[in-house]
Amino acid sequence: MTDILDIIRPDDWHVHLRDGAVLSDVARYTARQFGRAIVMPNLRPPITTPEMARAYRQRIMDAVGESADFQPLMTAYLTDSIDPDAIAAGFEAGDWVAAKLYPANATTNSDAGVTDIRRIEPVLTRMAEIGMPLLIHGEVTESHVDVFDREAEFIERILAPLIERQPDLRVVLEHITTAQAVDFVRGAGANVAATITAHHLTINRSDLFRGGIRPHLYCLPIAKRERHRLALREAATSGDTSFFLGTDTAPHRITDKESACGCAGIFSAPCALEVYAEVFDAEGALDRLEGFASRHGPAFYRMPENGSRVRLRRDNWQVPATLALSDGGSIHPFRGGETLSWQLECDEALQA
Ligand code: NCD
Ligand code: ZN
Repeated sequence: MTDILDIIRPDDWHVHLRDGAVLSDVARYTARQFGRAIVMPNLRPPITTPEMARAYRQRIMDAVGESADFQPLMTAYLTDSIDPDAIAAGFEAGDWVAAKLYPANATTNSDAGVTDIRRIEPVLTRMAEIGMPLLIHGEVTESHVDVFDREAEFIERILAPLIERQPDLRVVLEHITTAQAVDFVRGAGANVAATITAHHLTINRSDLFRGGIRPHLYCLPIAKRERHRLALREAATSGDTSFFLGTDTAPHRITDKESACGCAGIFSAPCALEVYAEVFDAEGALDRLEGFASRHGPAFYRMPENGSRVRLRRDNWQVPATLALSDGGSIHPFRGGETLSWQLECDEALQA
C-alpha cells in the first residue's frame, strides 16, 4: 500500500479568492497547496481591464506574501461590450492568461456577464487567433430550464455550435458535473479541456438533502445524480489529459450560506488536494494523481510544470469545522469537522 506520495507541486486551475479582508484570510489556503492558480474575475466590480487585473494580482501577492511559492494567474471577465483589442492587449502583456465567460446571471456575481454569446463573437475570433483560452461557466440561464439540466443544455445549444464555429478556440469547460460534459470533452479534440472539482467527485445531489438541507454543499453547477459523479471520477482518474484539477473553491460567510436564500459556492481550499488524493486512492489510481493535478493543466495552458514537489502522506487529520475571518465572520470549509485519510505535508511557515 502506498503511504507516501511525492508529486510535482500541483496547480489549481479555478479558484475564487475574493477581495479585501476575505482575500487576506483565504488566499493562504490555496497558496499552501498549489504553485499557481487561475483566479476568477467575478469580483464587484468584475475584472474587465488589464489595470484591474494587475492591481488585483498585487493585492493577492500582498495577501500571500511575496516569498510564497505561489503565482496567481489572472483572468478577464467577459461582458457584452468588452473590446477585442483590450482582451488581446492584456493577454499579450501578460496581465491575464485567459478570459472567463459567465452567461449573465448564471452564478455568483455574474449579472454583468454575457447575455448572448453571439455578441462576443469578435472577441472569441480574436482569442482563437492569439491562442488565448476561453474558460466557460457552462450553464444556460433560462428559468424554465430545470437547474439539473442546465449544463447538458448548454453543451448542446451553446458549446457544440461554438466549437463548430470556432474550431481553433482553446476552451476549458469549468467545473463539469455531468456525464454529457465528460463525453463532450472526450470527443472534442485537443483544444477542449475541462476542470473537475473535489466536491463534484465526492458528492451527488442526494447529499444536498441528507437528513435536511445542506447549504454548505450548494454550489453551481449544482451536484447531479450518482451516475454523473461516477462518470466524473472515471474521467478524472483515467489519465486522459483533457481533464485536470480545478477546485472552484468559493468562500462565502456562514451567515450568507445558512440563509433563506443561501449563496452558491463551496470553500474547499483548506483540504482540496487531500480530498482528490482520497478519490484517486479509492479508485486505485494514485499513480495518476500527478497527471491530473500537476501535468495536464500546464500542458493545456502551455506553461512549464512546477519545479518543486509536495508530499502527501496517508495520515488521518480533521478539517476544522469553521474558520474565523479577521473581521469576526466565519466560513465552514468543505468536509469541515470530518476526518480525511491523506494529509499534505508542509513547512511551519505555511501552517502559521
Ligand atoms: C462561485 C462563486 O461563489 O463565486 N460559486 C459557485 O457556486 N461555484 C461562482 C461559480 O464558479 O459559479
Ligand atoms: Zn467558479
